[in-house]
Amino acid sequence: MLNIALPKGRLGERVYSMLRQAGYGCPAIEQPDRRLVFENEETGVRYFWVKPLDVTIYVERGAADLGIAGKDILLENRPDLYELLDLKTGICRMCVAGPAGFQDDRSRMLRAATKFPHIAAEYYARLSRDVELIKLNGSIELAPILGLSDVIVDIVETGKTLAENGLVVLDTVCPISARLVANQTAYRFLRKEIDTLTAKLQEEIG
Ligand code: PRP
Repeated sequence: MLNIALPKGRLGERVYSMLRQAGYGCPAIEQPDRRLVFENEETGVRYFWVKPLDVTIYVERGAADLGIAGKDILLENRPDLYELLDLKTGICRMCVAGPAGFQDDRSRMLRAATKFPHIAAEYYARLSRDVELIKLNGSIELAPILGLSDVIVDIVETGKTLAENGLVVLDTVCPISARLVANQTAYRFLRKEIDTLTAKLQEEIG
């Protein structure tokens, strides 16, 4: 059995349907109920739904052999695991955003609010820009509106949240998409199964 941690939510549903098309379907998971674990002995897969932020924890510790995690989480938390495939879905970008016309005054400390302090710290270190990072857990767009920060470092998908809050993209930090990740030990012992699944998913992606 391959144990696969799927991120609960829209991305997880999308990735499950890629897996189904790749030959790793599991009819039980398609039933509307609140169970969290589903297996299909025929195809040799066991899926479980976990919070998107927790996928890498399950995979890193070997509770799951494989998982699907956003590149943002991989860059932020740097878990010790293998990144096998870019699934080319869940596509968005990590951006710096702020009020339109924002000009960075380098004689002052810059305040940036973010859910991704490591990514933000690395970005500003590359620019040799001193920054005070304010870690928030959501609704990041509020921070510059209320004067909590000058800018934000956050994920932009459609750009709607920024636009509706009067903010604009000032710079792009990096592109983000969903990745197939593997536990390192599992990859050694289940290499054939994992390589086969990866190759079939790759065919689906095209
Ligand atoms: C994410 C992100 C932005 C928004 C971007 O928030 O932090 O707020 O989505 O999407 P858009 O460009 O399509 O508008 P999420 O929905 O995860 O909620 P959060 O505020 O709880 O972080």
